Amino acid sequence: MELNIGVIRGDGIGPEIVFEAIKVLNKVGEVYGHTYKYNELLMGGASIDVHGIPLTDETVAIAKSCDAVLMGSIGGDAKVSPWYKLEPSKRPEAGLLKIRKELNLFANLRPAVLYDELKGACPLKEELTEGGFDMMIMRELTGGLYFGNRETKQVDGVLTAKDELTYNENEIRRIAIRAFDIAMKRNKKVISVDKANVLDSSRLWRKVVEEVAIDYPEVTLEHMLVDNCAMQLVKNPKQFDVILTENMFGDILSDEASMITGSIGMLASASLNDTKFGLYEPSGGSAPDIAGKGIANPIATILSAAMMLRFSFDLDKEADAIENAVSQVLKDGYRTIDIMSEGKTQVNTAEIGNLIAENIK
Ligand code: IPM
Ligand code: MG
Repeated sequence: MELNIGVIRGDGIGPEIVFEAIKVLNKVGEVYGHTYKYNELLMGGASIDVHGIPLTDETVAIAKSCDAVLMGSIGGDAKVSPWYKLEPSKRPEAGLLKIRKELNLFANLRPAVLYDELKGACPLKEELTEGGFDMMIMRELTGGLYFGNRETKQVDGVLTAKDELTYNENEIRRIAIRAFDIAMKRNKKVISVDKANVLDSSRLWRKVVEEVAIDYPEVTLEHMLVDNCAMQLVKNPKQFDVILTENMFGDILSDEASMITGSIGMLASASLNDTKFGLYEPSGGSAPDIAGKGIANPIATILSAAMMLRFSFDLDKEADAIENAVSQVLKDGYRTIDIMSEGKTQVNTAEIGNLIAENIK
């Protein structure tokens, strides 16, 4: 089959990690008989440098015409990069928010799995993670604080900033349905995370999630307050199967979840709308401090490519092949510096990409 893929290499380590993911995809193509059409798309700082804005409407249109988009990361070091001298709506991150909104990518899936081979990189005590953990964070991605009205102005002579947090029941329902559908294919447990003891938007969230749950009698639903969830993630991560939550809470909790898997360089993600289209990107950022050094961990991007094959193209065997290759390379003892531990073999970005590609069977 021919796969029509948009490629956003982006900023920082983005180009390096996407290069490795494409290497692995190409190997999958050779082994399984697929070809690719890669459409290069500019977004973030890379787009600002060329067009003056982080995402043009033409780029959005091309992205829409693709079957899926694979992305590295965007953004730079806000302390030194000229991109951050621009007004907020022209900075790199605004490009990411725009593509999420324009393509209606409301469902963000962030799996956090502790690989047996990486137990040593997990900062938690071994007794807490015995047997590993495997959770899926379902983050709402096109609503809430990220897309509410915001302004900064003088109120009675005092500089005052405001960000609005709005959710309607339809936005909540569609992400809840996704979460329950996914739970049905996993361990049938949804923990919905909110701040219903304080926020109206969370009280509505809870009500709608409970309505959706009625259609899924086999799935156990639990509600958890977000502060408690932050604590439970480091106290008892094994209790989680699917975490369902709104945009801002999901942003924060997914970074926390990634850290307990050993490294943010391991976490893939998929952002989906209600078609087969998806944007696939590592959960981690652009890491400008290590960009260009060839030491970034490309595994999250490679695993994101696997999610792309699975969700947008229904190529399950091929996705399994990538995931198995990653496991094998870890089993063989190869590590990038972020997940390095004693007795293992340290390799760089290109080397681990080569090893994973060689292990595609
Ligand atoms: C993420 C990132 C983005 C977000 C930033 C770069 C705007 O942190 O994808 O988690 O907050 O959504
Ligand atoms: Mg984040």
